[in-house]
Amino acid sequence: MGVGIAHAFASSGHEVRLIDVSAEQLAKAEKTIAEILADGVRLGKVDETAAAAALAGLTVSQSVTDGAAGADLLVETVSENLAIKIDVVRQAEAVMATTGLIATNTSALSVTEIAAACQDPTRVIGMHFFNPVQKMKLIELVRGLATTDEAVALCRDYVAQLGKTAIVVNETPGLTTSRMSAMAGNEAMWMLQEGAATAEDIDTALRLGFNHPMGPLELGDLTGWDTRLSVLHYLHSTLGDKFRPCPLITKMVKAGRYGRKVGWGVYKYENGAKVPGSGLRGSQL
Ligand SMILES: NC(=O)c1ccc[n+]([C@@H]2O[C@H](COP(=O)([O-])OP(=O)(O)OC[C@H]3O[C@@H](n4cnc5c(N)ncnc54)[C@H](O)[C@@H]3O)[C@@H](O)[C@H]2O)c1
Repeated sequence: MGVGIAHAFASSGHEVRLIDVSAEQLAKAEKTIAEILADGVRLGKVDETAAAAALAGLTVSQSVTDGAAGADLLVETVSENLAIKIDVVRQAEAVMATTGLIATNTSALSVTEIAAACQDPTRVIGMHFFNPVQKMKLIELVRGLATTDEAVALCRDYVAQLGKTAIVVNETPGLTTSRMSAMAGNEAMWMLQEGAATAEDIDTALRLGFNHPMGPLELGDLTGWDTRLSVLHYLHSTLGDKFRPCPLITKMVKAGRYGRKVGWGVYKYENGAKVPGSGLRGSQL
């Protein structure tokens, strides 16, 4: 998600510092952003000068304290783990501009709890992007208990600069979107585990029957089953048994089959494309 978010800000004229503990992830991110911009230029959707400016305005860092120094906005998008998120926002707050906004891209965790770890919780807000960021128009802004109207207004301005649409929601576990999509993805995995239908047919059912752009298993592969499982554990603990993670998801995560990002989830992927007929079969479960 960090790659897509960095690309969105860089291509709307912002100076961006992309921070990750992993040098490998940073190198991959820079390459992907350059490719997205080059594709945009080739398709005539992005001006060549603007693409060059976006790349020139993007730098990377492995250190939060170096990377976030003096920043007006932090979009925290590290792994869906409260302890890691709190550690990162605390480090960033200590070096950011004193008026800087701290946004978390958490899919389901408590913005209030992340904010409570900061010196000034009034400028902490949820800024929930969707995958793939360059295609998805929605950003869900989430008010924690202490988030001020001023922080919401500032964040709305950023959303407008990115050319996206904001909805503002009060904090509840899973917000509006992750709660719905975790439920559908979990249910689809229960159906697959029970042998109710093949992976391909479950996805086709929602694409053609309900006009969803992709099926729940394809979406889980895109989101990452590791991220999806963390969200489900949190929703299970806060909203009860209806969010109990399907054991098949746990099995997939244990096997390292996280989805598209590793080339294998419910489906296999080669050169970024789904391999036809590769969906999990009942006999494999
Ligand atoms: N995947 C999605 O579709 C999606 C959609 C919306 C929101 N989100 C949220 O975005 C966040 C990230 O999700 P993701 O799927 O991109 O996860 P991911 O596991 O693919 O990426 C997380 C990145 O964080 C880095 N990281 C871990 N600890 C760090 C630290 N202490 N300092 C700096 N970098 C660190 C990792 O190296 C990794 O590159 C999660 O909170 C997730 O819930 C994900």
